[in-house]
Amino acid sequence: MKDAAPQTIYLKDYTPFGFTVEKVELTFRLAPTATRVTSRIRFAPNPAATDRTFFLHGEELKLIRAAIDGAEVTPDVTPQGLTCPVPDAPFDWEAEVEIAPEDNTALEGLYMSRGMYCTQCEAEGFRKITYYPDRPDVMAVFSVRIESDLPVLLSNGNPGDTGAGWAEWHDPWPKPAYLFALVAGDLRAHSDRFTTRSGRAVDLNLWVRPGDEGKCAWGMEALKKSMRWDEDVYGREYDLDVFNIVAVDDFNMGAMENKGLNIFNSSAVLASPETSTDANFERIEAIIAHEYFHNWTGNRITCRDWFQLCLKEGLTVFRDSQFTSDLRSAPVKRIGDVIDLRARQFPEDQGPLSHPVRPESFQEINNFYTATVYEKGAEVIGMLKRLVGDDAYARALDLYFERHDGQACTIEDWLRVFEDTTGRDLAQFKRWYSQAGTPRLSVEESYADATYTLTFRQHTPPTPGQDEKLPQVLPIAVGLLNPNGDEVVPTTLLEMTEAEQSFSFPNLPARPVASILRGFSAPVVLERDASREENLFLLAHDTDPFNRWEASRALAVASLMNMLSDPARGPDGAWLDALLDVIRDSALDPAYRALLLGLPSESELAQRLYEAGTTPDPEAIHAAAEKHRQARAELWQAQLPALAEEARVDAPFSPDAAQAGKRALGGAVLAMQSRVDGGKAASAQFDAADNMTAQLSALTSLITAGAADDALAAFEAQWRHDRLVMDKWFGVQIAFAPPHDAVDVTRRLTEHPDFDWKNPNRFRACLGALAMNHAGFHRADGAAYDLLADWLIRLDAKNPQTTARMCTAFQSWKRYDAARQEKMRAALGRLRDQPGLSRDTSEMVARLLG
Ligand code: ARG
Ligand code: ZN
Repeated sequence: MKDAAPQTIYLKDYTPFGFTVEKVELTFRLAPTATRVTSRIRFAPNPAATDRTFFLHGEELKLIRAAIDGAEVTPDVTPQGLTCPVPDAPFDWEAEVEIAPEDNTALEGLYMSRGMYCTQCEAEGFRKITYYPDRPDVMAVFSVRIESDLPVLLSNGNPGDTGAGWAEWHDPWPKPAYLFALVAGDLRAHSDRFTTRSGRAVDLNLWVRPGDEGKCAWGMEALKKSMRWDEDVYGREYDLDVFNIVAVDDFNMGAMENKGLNIFNSSAVLASPETSTDANFERIEAIIAHEYFHNWTGNRITCRDWFQLCLKEGLTVFRDSQFTSDLRSAPVKRIGDVIDLRARQFPEDQGPLSHPVRPESFQEINNFYTATVYEKGAEVIGMLKRLVGDDAYARALDLYFERHDGQACTIEDWLRVFEDTTGRDLAQFKRWYSQAGTPRLSVEESYADATYTLTFRQHTPPTPGQDEKLPQVLPIAVGLLNPNGDEVVPTTLLEMTEAEQSFSFPNLPARPVASILRGFSAPVVLERDASREENLFLLAHDTDPFNRWEASRALAVASLMNMLSDPARGPDGAWLDALLDVIRDSALDPAYRALLLGLPSESELAQRLYEAGTTPDPEAIHAAAEKHRQARAELWQAQLPALAEEARVDAPFSPDAAQAGKRALGGAVLAMQSRVDGGKAASAQFDAADNMTAQLSALTSLITAGAADDALAAFEAQWRHDRLVMDKWFGVQIAFAPPHDAVDVTRRLTEHPDFDWKNPNRFRACLGALAMNHAGFHRADGAAYDLLADWLIRLDAKNPQTTARMCTAFQSWKRYDAARQEKMRAALGRLRDQPGLSRDTSEMVARLLG
């Protein structure tokens, strides 16, 4: 419900809670519309606090009774919680509340998903379960008793006694309430075992619905790999006798790291070759690792308050990216991460939703689970590691775990372990946490007297609430190549701290070619006027795989921009020739070659035009990109069969990086082939496919070739029983629809009997795909904006979190022409004026409209 005046919470207002919690005992008597939750909590005055107001959060709870030290009390209850006079000494609080999990469509707190009970408490969902100080700096030991006829009853920690219709759990590790979890359902376990390096035997279970048992093996392998990796690389062991993972079909996010009981969106854990693409397998491996790694970076050491969210998320994303790089290919992972950063974080940081990695205020914390907090937060840690070096990073992390185990910490604590380890002053580096916006880094080159000089200038444009920006610490990795292609200066880290700064390289007999920002060593927009010749040279010779790819990217952007400004032009032939040479180099990883075949997305082109001061025209961008793809396919037609041959996998299916790389290359080749053979090859691949990667790449190629009707019908008939596969079926039809059709296709699919709009995965598969069809979404008449706004209005009444998140589809409205801006503002205005709009969506719309 809409608060009269939405409350803004500020970082600067932090004060500790007036009480500590010694232990928590919870009893759940589960029933769909009348679950009873009894809590017994031992409180004591907190010597570190001055304010002793006894306020417990609680929302949408029916208080049945409350007592202090056994005597009934009548607290003062508001929609946000309760207050009550309490003794000035340790006391036992007891309360019984009633809640209705079946009516909980927000999927926050205790809710039901197809007959099963589950919880999502991060960030502030526990207050919808019972009255409690629902803040991460209150850590306590929990014991839980669940009463229900359902066969599987789970909570955090280690299992205790069980009987017919009940089970008890005890978690010995103090934790904040956001890590609480409960699951009850008719579930099947895929079980395994892991022995930690100090000899603790851990029972591992992946719990799924009957019928999904065959989709568990990959997630289990990923879990064991993660447990071993965290021991090997960070020296972190698991600390309970069981580790449970549960797959849930209705879930707002990817997954949740509840202590000993991770809960996953089924799309982020269930996998089989027939139903999951290679990208799904990789994503699942990464999310399993991410949630597992939270056991130390998040659970054992947690956040003092939600402003510190990046303390656990940035670090854990950084750790899971290290894990993926170690298991797969580091350059391929890095390029994928940068593509993702530019697609999601840069537009966020350069638009009305821009906020620092550590925000300083919020109305609804769920709106700050963003690409900035997560992915830019991880980039900041990558920079820190680059600056201090690998050894110092390892020692700082050891100190972090030793010093802060069991605590709720801040970014100041985090940076201090680095300062104490290295003696470095990180005051300026800390701006990465407080200053929003993407820094622009421009560079000028000069060469005289055998000395090559790079002069950098940094500048961060203003962002909402931050007009003035100070220079940041930028680690700039640079290598220099001789005109013959040899590397004369290997990768060197330049540490830029000023607004303008020069770095010289003496004793160079010939003017070198610079490879700047290798490995994307800082999350900036590099403004460099490298010539076409230089980029072609780097594409051919750079020893840094990231910058080799980046050079091709720059050529792609330039070529597409030229085609846009002169529609009579075709793609840059010299670049395509050079690219083909690289693509045909069998010594290169096929996954890397597949990345080189990717073009910048239409949305990225729009962003680049906007940055260059030009208003992007979505239809023209689409036309240029299509023309480019078509021309390339025709130009390379004769080479495609040989490339397809190289991409062929003869061995039985395995989702490993080597096979996945080949299939990625094969998929890119097939997409080109379909443009010249009317879909013949794709149709053959579709019919023969024995794995989802092959089937889906064939299907999308057929959609682009306009020849997908039969395949779509066959796909639906084959997979209508499988929700996760059907999400793909819905999604690809919209994402790959010709722009003028995207709205109609979306309308038609939202009328399909299997369009269950209350399921976040299905809602995103359709409306999220519409927002990703750049030219389709930005149709000049505004029909897509209206359609999305209609659905967001409808969803907001049921699920504010997912609605608010999907409002980000409008975050780049300022890029476009006045007519489109007007239509997007009107759509947002309609949302804003909706009576009873949620706090989540209200905050997002207000920030978007500025
Ligand atoms: N901590 C989870 C993760 O990143 C995300 C949970 C966020 N959920 C939410 N409703 N905001 O692994
Ligand atoms: Zn996380």
